Amino acid sequence: TKTLEKEKDLLGKHILITAGPTVEAIDPMRYITNHSSGKMGYSIAEDAVKRGAEVILVSGPTHLECPAGVKRVDVKSARQMYDAVHEHFEWADAVIKTAAVADYRPEQESNHKIKKNGNTLMLNLVPNPDILKSLGEKKTHQVLVGFAAETENIIDYAKAKIEKKHLDFIVANNIAQAGAGFKGDTNIATIIKANGEMITCPQMTKSELGDIILDQVKNYFN
Ligand code: CTP
Ligand code: CA
Repeated sequence: TKTLEKEKDLLGKHILITAGPTVEAIDPMRYITNHSSGKMGYSIAEDAVKRGAEVILVSGPTHLECPAGVKRVDVKSARQMYDAVHEHFEWADAVIKTAAVADYRPEQESNHKIKKNGNTLMLNLVPNPDILKSLGEKKTHQVLVGFAAETENIIDYAKAKIEKKHLDFIVANNIAQAGAGFKGDTNIATIIKANGEMITCPQMTKSELGDIILDQVKNYFN
């Protein structure tokens, strides 16, 4: 249970959160995406508002309702997410990037439905911009938090992402583990800071994990 003081401990802070998957169009009826539900990001957004923060949630397509008091900006593709996030970056005191951004998109989006002809179909994929890395390169005062979805070498891969993207800390989780990852209401994570310090978070609800993440973000504000 939270003490009264803690209830508004993020009063007036500007927190930019991304959530959900991105969707990359192949043609007017087909797309590439991933299993992200958006729950982790929406949960942090809800908790942050309760703690007094102003929250902008840049969200890929999800089935979730926008939490009360949160300003949601809807996007589909990684490039749209890139634009929306950069548009609000100056405003932000902290950016928490839970979104599962598609690493690749089809090179061309066909403006008509692609017809089958019995042959092998080659789909060329080109890399999407790395949104978080681009923020790391231009950050001034912002606290930058990444998420690392891994299936192996969790800690090493996550640490490499801290460096590559100039993060303050990263929340690493093994998406192959039961009780963790994209779909459910719980997560199992390790928070790794740029200084190497680690905080182990056993299986808990995404709301509980969100509160721990916000506690950490707050440390960087002081
Ligand atoms: N991310 C991003 N833009 C991308 C890809 C990832 O902003 N184009 C962010 C995610 O929102 C997440 C962090 O970077 O906070 C790590 O994402 P992840 O997919 O784990 O790492 P990648 O750098 O994409 O590397 P890989 O998928 O190869 O492990
Ligand atoms: Ca990725």
